[in-house]
Amino acid sequence: MISGFASGASAYAGQWDRLFFVLLALSAVISAVVFALVVGFSIRYRRGSSAKRGLLPGVIRNELEFGWTSATAFVFIFIFWWAAVVQLKNIVPPNNPYEIHVVAKQWMWKVQQPNGVREIGELHAPTGSPVELIMSSEDVIHSMFLPSLRLKQDVLPGRYTYLWFTGQKPGVYHLFCAEFCGTEHSRMIGKFVLMSPADFGRWLAAQPLGADLAKEGAALFRSLGCSGCHAASSAVHAPDLNGVYGRQVKLSDGRTVIADEAYLRDSILLPEKDIVAGFEPIMPSFRGIVNDDQMIKLMAYLRSLATEGERQ
Ligand code: CUA
Repeated sequence: MISGFASGASAYAGQWDRLFFVLLALSAVISAVVFALVVGFSIRYRRGSSAKRGLLPGVIRNELEFGWTSATAFVFIFIFWWAAVVQLKNIVPPNNPYEIHVVAKQWMWKVQQPNGVREIGELHAPTGSPVELIMSSEDVIHSMFLPSLRLKQDVLPGRYTYLWFTGQKPGVYHLFCAEFCGTEHSRMIGKFVLMSPADFGRWLAAQPLGADLAKEGAALFRSLGCSGCHAASSAVHAPDLNGVYGRQVKLSDGRTVIADEAYLRDSILLPEKDIVAGFEPIMPSFRGIVNDDQMIKLMAYLRSLATEGERQ
């Protein structure tokens, strides 16, 4: 049984709902006041009525003008501040989230848990700790919409977008594609299952064991020939990738970038775009050779090098 649209499953959903209902109530009050004034004035100043039609005294006119201008300005600023606080607080994910990879394609959601367990059209996640979705598309623009979390994010071909949340209420919720992506867009739906950590652990253990993503990535790293140049013992002068993920990288044109998924992906597919300072642009492009599934594995492998790097 899928829980209704209105039930929120995270603290963020609660904050979002409060903002929404206060805005709704405020709009209702203002509409009621405007409507009452329209009706009241049209009766009072109807044709032939004896109501006084002259100007108000100047002092009262000014007070009224200042009064409602500053009152509405204050209300607008308050709403802006409140919405900004709720949104900004929730942009950056906390450290070490549980990372789930999502690949969208016409017309399905492919999900891969960090231990390699795969799902199609379903997204299982534990409650109580931060979960980050790392998303990309194989074809056109899709949009991940999780109404129970009040979260929506476009999913784009050729780059990564992210969503993060800390689920609170276990349950089965809707998962929609919210960007028109072709004839079967409306069927690109799924189930979003939030489980307590214990249930989630049991669920994960009961799944057919997918291969460890990082291990598959390591195998790809060798079979694609990456290790030929990037291994420490290699005769070719190529950047050492140990601990590269999340590190600052100096480029030959003087810029400094963070080696995140987007940078690493570009480095593999468009190696001439960002050349690391001190290196020759000799890396071949793997565009059309590495597909999105393989890219996920390579990223997992590169990230695992980062954690090993930290441990040293
Ligand atoms: Cu994918 Cu709409």
